[in-house]
Amino acid sequence: MVVTAGGTREPIDPVRYIGNRSSGKMGNALAAAAHEAGANVTLITTVPPQAANDMTVVAVETAADMRAAVNNALTPAAILIMAAAVADYTPASPQAKKIKKSEHTWALELTPTVDILAELGKDGRRNEWFVVGFAAETDDAVANGRAKVGAKNLDLCVINDVSKPGIGMGADDNEVIVVDQAGTVAEFGKASKTEIATHLLAVIAERYRSTRARA
Ligand code: CTP
Repeated sequence: MVVTAGGTREPIDPVRYIGNRSSGKMGNALAAAAHEAGANVTLITTVPPQAANDMTVVAVETAADMRAAVNNALTPAAILIMAAAVADYTPASPQAKKIKKSEHTWALELTPTVDILAELGKDGRRNEWFVVGFAAETDDAVANGRAKVGAKNLDLCVINDVSKPGIGMGADDNEVIVVDQAGTVAEFGKASKTEIATHLLAVIAERYRSTRARA
């Protein structure tokens, strides 16, 4: 199983970056729970956990690093859980030297990153993998999450409503809705990310087994 976690950091210069509020807690909790349950887990994260036991942990920083690490870790029949908050844009020309302060207004040119899930969704090996995406939404959460299932060719999408205080990005708790192409598969009310991770893994394992049984 390959699990990604945390927000990517896109360098502007050696000291500055563009980041997001993801803490990596949800992805790290999923990896820890799967590892404890006996799965062979590779955790690709921007926030490596303190105690990884004997889990394989790959520390990454940027969206490009994460893409390379995911592609490197994917094996046939892998389950991929993309809990990471991957930047959609990265500075077009990161500077090798620290940018000095000036009184002028300046604009930072951004270029789109590769959408890791969308790219894998079109890969010739796609049917070998079971792919779970996450959707951080602020409005029309279920509709937007279901749209991502189609757009990124996902088996399941876990929707976080990131507009609600106390849950989701950066928080210790979460509240999620799991959807597939047909609609809602499961809903888990506010609980710690550790508890949510256990519930999510049960849904993913069950769905993975039934998909394999049909194959
Ligand atoms: N994702 C990815 N590669 C990217 C951006 C996102 O693989 N370059 C993955 C995330 O890890 C997540 C899913 O796509 O599993 C959805 O991410 P989200 O930020 O909710 O959606 P976006 O596709 O970025 O769309 P938008 O920001 O417009 O909602």
